[in-house]
Amino acid sequence: MNLAQKKGSHTAQCKIVITSNQGVRGGRIFDLKSTVDNAVKSCPSVRHVFVAKRTNESMPMGKLDISLDEVMVGQSPVCAPEPMDSEEMLFMLYTSGSTGKPKGIVHTQAGYLLYASLTHQYVFDYTPGDVFGCVADIGWITGHSYVVYGPLCNGATSVLFESTPVYPNPGRYWETVQRLRINQFYGAPTAIRLLLKYEENWVKKYDRSSLKTLASVGEPINHEAWEWFHNVVGDGRCPLVDTWWQTETGGVCIAPLPAEPGAEIRPAMAMRPFFGIQPALLGEKGQIITGNDVSGALCISKPWPGMARTIFGDHQRFVDAYFKPYQGQYFTGDGAYRTEDGYYQITGRMDDVINISGHRLGTAEIEDALDEHPDVPETAVIGIPHEIKGEVPFAFVVLKESATENQRAVVEEMRHLVATKIAKYAVPDHFLVVKRLPKTRSGKIMRRILRKVAMQDTSNLGDISTLDDPSVVSEIIEAHKRYRSHAAKK
Ligand code: WT7
Repeated sequence: MNLAQKKGSHTAQCKIVITSNQGVRGGRIFDLKSTVDNAVKSCPSVRHVFVAKRTNESMPMGKLDISLDEVMVGQSPVCAPEPMDSEEMLFMLYTSGSTGKPKGIVHTQAGYLLYASLTHQYVFDYTPGDVFGCVADIGWITGHSYVVYGPLCNGATSVLFESTPVYPNPGRYWETVQRLRINQFYGAPTAIRLLLKYEENWVKKYDRSSLKTLASVGEPINHEAWEWFHNVVGDGRCPLVDTWWQTETGGVCIAPLPAEPGAEIRPAMAMRPFFGIQPALLGEKGQIITGNDVSGALCISKPWPGMARTIFGDHQRFVDAYFKPYQGQYFTGDGAYRTEDGYYQITGRMDDVINISGHRLGTAEIEDALDEHPDVPETAVIGIPHEIKGEVPFAFVVLKESATENQRAVVEEMRHLVATKIAKYAVPDHFLVVKRLPKTRSGKIMRRILRKVAMQDTSNLGDISTLDDPSVVSEIIEAHKRYRSHAAKK
């Protein structure tokens, strides 16, 4: 079975696919059409594939394919708007959770659009005439809400960015700011962490006087990245807003407001709820934690216009994933700290979801892809910190006895499996072959131990008495030591 089937992407019953012959990014070319062709083979609901010509490479056209450029020639430039019910589906986006297949998050017409446009205006201090530059990929929620729907609802000029921050050189963002006179620049900490390694002149040589607001999204922004973004890019004169939200929330929920009179923008991760958002911190026993200088599971207590309405085709899963963990609350999956003066700081995911360069991924998805290898009976993937990407996956794998001779080849095949079944960014940075995984007597993998081993922090492993066989721990620590010393020699 391939992953597309496993993921249940068939649930969307999609009829039309729009693609390009090839994709172009960071000086590289990708054969998008052939990827789509492969996917469509297992999707009987698809009737047409529209193919845009992004490059001059001609592609074989199959019987479902229609050239987008050719059919567009005969079309009217005006399309009458179609009235929709406010609660009808606007779009669906797949995102990862801690278990099972990705979830098709459903957003609806009126609430989502209202929320995207309102947050676009207030969080980023957008005023008519501004040029709004969100450099996120259009295919993710950030691109949906802040390249397309939010800015267009407000009649803004929205920049479409198709590249990487370092192609053809690390001045790419700031050259774009200068050329297009961008007023709001919205990007991800992972890109900032990458850019701050280069000479400041890559920033300084471009005119950035048009910038009014800088903004960050997707993962916690560390102090160094915050300071560089604020001081080097913004010359210390633009508010830098760290925005917290999720695919499910439709738009920004927690952020400082640049336009709020007297609002203070504090370095790194200090934010307040947006209009109408009521955050709550919940404790282990499900109690609401009151007061300040406290931490807990970040929930939202009241509905807001932009919230997701369901998981496509599986409403029960929606209820179970978001509303069951804490009675009467929407649970975000994140932990948070409320500071002494009532600001929120996000402390990270509380579930088995990791964040690789701002890409959200359930470790179970990587494990599923690895487990497809016939010589791999069992794997466990965890996230470990990485200087630039935030987090990277670390895979512990158990091989069949017969395959231990071919370890290197099997690892290569596993890399390929993850790259093709999920994406290149999901390929683990580390593969550690172990004889067995640390399991409790009830068969649950103790990931806490794997995390400590991978972080080389094994002085205090906590309670391991529930392990089926505690000697597995020293076995894994030894294997990891050998792995690290081997890696160091390379
Ligand atoms: C998860 C949501 C929001 C659009 C892009 C990601 C993490 C998001 C922040 C932030 C710390 C953040 C959370 C969240 N996250 N923004 N400003 N500070 N963490 O959307 O793929 O749905 O991921 O990204 O863990 O739950 P997503």
